[in-house]
Amino acid sequence: LTTPAYDALAAAHLQQHRFEHVLNMLHWDQAVNMPAAGSEARAAALTELEAHLHRLRTDPPRSSQLSAALTEPLDDEQAANLREMRRIRQLATALPEALVARRSLASSRCEHAWRTQRPANDWAGFLPNFEEVLEIAREEAQRLADIGGVSPYDAMLDLYEPGMRTADVRQVFEPLRAWLPGLIREVVERQSQEPTIAPRGPFPVSAQRRLCERVMALLGFDFSAGRLDVSTHPFTGGSPEDVRLTTRFDEDDFLSSLMGTVHEAGHGRYEQNLPRHWLGQPVAAARSMAIHESQSLAFEMQLGGHPGFAARLAPLLAEAFGPQEAFEPGNLHRLMTRVRPSLIRVEADEVTYPAHVILRFEIERALIEGEAKAADVPELWNLGMRDLLGLDTRGNYRDGPMQDVHWPSGLFGYFPCYSLGAMYAAQWFAALRHAQPDLDEKLAKGDFSTVFQWMDDKIWSQGSRWTTRELALRASGEVLNPAHFEAHLRQRYLPALR
Ligand code: CO
Repeated sequence: LTTPAYDALAAAHLQQHRFEHVLNMLHWDQAVNMPAAGSEARAAALTELEAHLHRLRTDPPRSSQLSAALTEPLDDEQAANLREMRRIRQLATALPEALVARRSLASSRCEHAWRTQRPANDWAGFLPNFEEVLEIAREEAQRLADIGGVSPYDAMLDLYEPGMRTADVRQVFEPLRAWLPGLIREVVERQSQEPTIAPRGPFPVSAQRRLCERVMALLGFDFSAGRLDVSTHPFTGGSPEDVRLTTRFDEDDFLSSLMGTVHEAGHGRYEQNLPRHWLGQPVAAARSMAIHESQSLAFEMQLGGHPGFAARLAPLLAEAFGPQEAFEPGNLHRLMTRVRPSLIRVEADEVTYPAHVILRFEIERALIEGEAKAADVPELWNLGMRDLLGLDTRGNYRDGPMQDVHWPSGLFGYFPCYSLGAMYAAQWFAALRHAQPDLDEKLAKGDFSTVFQWMDDKIWSQGSRWTTRELALRASGEVLNPAHFEAHLRQRYLPALR
């Protein structure tokens, strides 16, 4: 039995993977190390490499190979690999090169100007650039929609979360929108009666960095195949063989860099534990953005917000910064689970976070479907923030619709993945607790190995072998079920008696 067409495709994808490796390292270097004057040459080099990758992905012989491979005797994993190859090809060929070039130019211009317009609260200056980015995104969405036979916003969602549709997101977000504001009020009210002791800084950067690396090691991050560095916006980059995490340090607040690192370590372990024997093939890649976030949030929120994590952390903090009353495990846990409505998404706790995501989902859906204009965004924003979190954002564009980099850079359809990821993370822990009733006792003792073993078996080692639905079914016995997220929040933040 021979599979010549499939073999040719596999060889081509391995080659692509190697170019992507180089591209990822250049992006990491740009964010972490690059001197300012290197920026123009780097942008040119990246564009050249991206164009080369695009030519590889759209290489004409691929099309007949993809059809021929469908009739070859493939095993299940090869068939899954072929399904992913077809998707990559379809997305690469969907947009005309002229549109891709216009998109890249408009989003670079808008994002570049946004970097100074945001601190200046300059919505009027931002709007014309943003209108152009939105117009191009709508055209992109329409073309993808025509090919996929779905609505424009569905097509954008599908870029990040294959198979997920607007109706699916609504089905989980609409009930959430109904019960979340009340839950937030109850939690804030209850927490107002629980005093906490604030840690006293400064916390030297060198001590914070050592602490972050110790915690990454505790979380099983493999330092022989990855690193931690500093960048303005934390991210996980590199490639599965060499994973690059970043954080940022604030001498007055060690918890934000530490928990950011815990979040990225979840992304990092997923990448480091993708199936090795398929490495370089699409079937070995992470399943989707919601599943990726389910890993970072499993680490940061499910594990990081557990009393057992605070207890394990307490002695490490005393070693890193000297003993303080604030590092007492109970106090530390209260600090790490503090709920407070705020204007900024990236600083939000796990209870208020979904409100930020629902707001963005509703607005970006209306923008892409042509039901709202760019100029309508501040008003929609203010109304949503008022309903969801009771906050007023009138005139405050900087901490309102201008706060995120996503829209200025043309990313629409990504935001829902954060909250879908939080829901999947809660579902994974519910399944894990069901399978291992002594999970909480183990976590209380600082033993996290059960969590890593489960994630490895059910998620990491599976790569893209299954669709997201199948992956969820196999891992937890059900497709996405938001009831686990609500139960998690109520159990953690509103337990019946203390
Ligand atoms: Co993340």
